[in-house]
Amino acid sequence: MDLLQALQDSSSASALRGATTLYPFLNAAHILSVGLIVGAIGTLDVRVLGLFKGFALGQLGPPLSRVAAFGVLSAILTGVVIVSVQPVAYVQNPAFLLKLAFAGLAVLNAVALQSRLAWHDALEGGEADLSVKAQAAASLSLWVMAVIAGRWIAFVE
Ligand code: HEM
Repeated sequence: MDLLQALQDSSSASALRGATTLYPFLNAAHILSVGLIVGAIGTLDVRVLGLFKGFALGQLGPPLSRVAAFGVLSAILTGVVIVSVQPVAYVQNPAFLLKLAFAGLAVLNAVALQSRLAWHDALEGGEADLSVKAQAAASLSLWVMAVIAGRWIAFVE
């Protein structure tokens, strides 16, 4: 907690608290990152689940995965800077912790999927099997829950 308090008291954190223009831009960048994640991975998930079957998974998968990965990186970077403004309050906010847990599980799920043979078979023209579809459904649910928990942060003490 001392470390978090030191971060909160740091000159960069107090400069950011006083930056009335930069702070909203930072928040907007965080939301834009979340939009990239959900837009890209959500499209891929519903394709795996059976929508848009006219578009080959092998064509859609790689670019959408890359856009989502960029979104995750950018959400982490912008999120960490926003947290630095009042880290002590954020680490005590259950909605914030839940958001991190959902997002963390969603990322782990995506990494696990990318390393599976069944996923690579699906990319190479086969259809997604039941286990791949289950991971796509889990991905959709986890990202939606991360967004809901994220929006909730402001309403929880
Ligand atoms: C990677 C997946 C993530 C998703 C889907 C996500 C989602 C969200 C959403 C929907 C909001 C609410 C924005 C608003 O209504 O203004 C939010 C806010 C926030 N997020 Fe994230 N976020 C992610 C990652 C992170 C990370 C890694 C951190 C920090 C380590 C973080 C820190 C924050 C903070 C501090 C807020 C502001 C909360 C407030 O004061 O209202 N986020 N996030």
